[in-house]
Amino acid sequence: MEKTFSIIKPNAVKKNVIGDIIEKFETSGLTIAAAKMTILSKDKCELFYAEHKERPFFGELVSFMTSGPVMLLCLAGENAVLKNREIMGATDPKKAAPGTIRAKHGDSMGENAVHGSDSPASATRELAIFFDQHEICNL
Ligand code: RTP
Ligand code: MG
Repeated sequence: MEKTFSIIKPNAVKKNVIGDIIEKFETSGLTIAAAKMTILSKDKCELFYAEHKERPFFGELVSFMTSGPVMLLCLAGENAVLKNREIMGATDPKKAAPGTIRAKHGDSMGENAVHGSDSPASATRELAIFFDQHEICNL
């Protein structure tokens, strides 16, 4: 069972669509292995997005991601990383395929409803930032 890390971002939480997004994960063959509702600290958010530190949108990204509650998830399943990326759709909601989470709930390139790890190595790194090992269920 592969595991991946997902964040339901502040714009989606604000729109009250946590349930709709989780339903999409579950009906697409992914299982929730861990879940936590929180508000990200600036420090952890900057650590999490360290690869984007030099990008022009970094400040805006961190400010948005710490602007309100988020739902942190560990998703498990066969090919969970790739499957989650497919379910999410393209980064820009305008380019996301119909039926994907970002096409349905994304508002803009920044406020694109969900995050998903882009590789198994990223998933391991990202999960370790937000979850203790004992908080993730072995399914
Ligand atoms: P994510 O990491 O959030 O799952 O999304 P991604 O791989 O599709 O996109 P990535 O290139 O890793 O960018 C991370 C997040 O930064 C925001 N972004 N804003 N304003 C912009 O041009 C811009 N580009 C990226 C998005 O919120 C993206 O999800
Ligand atoms: Mg990314």
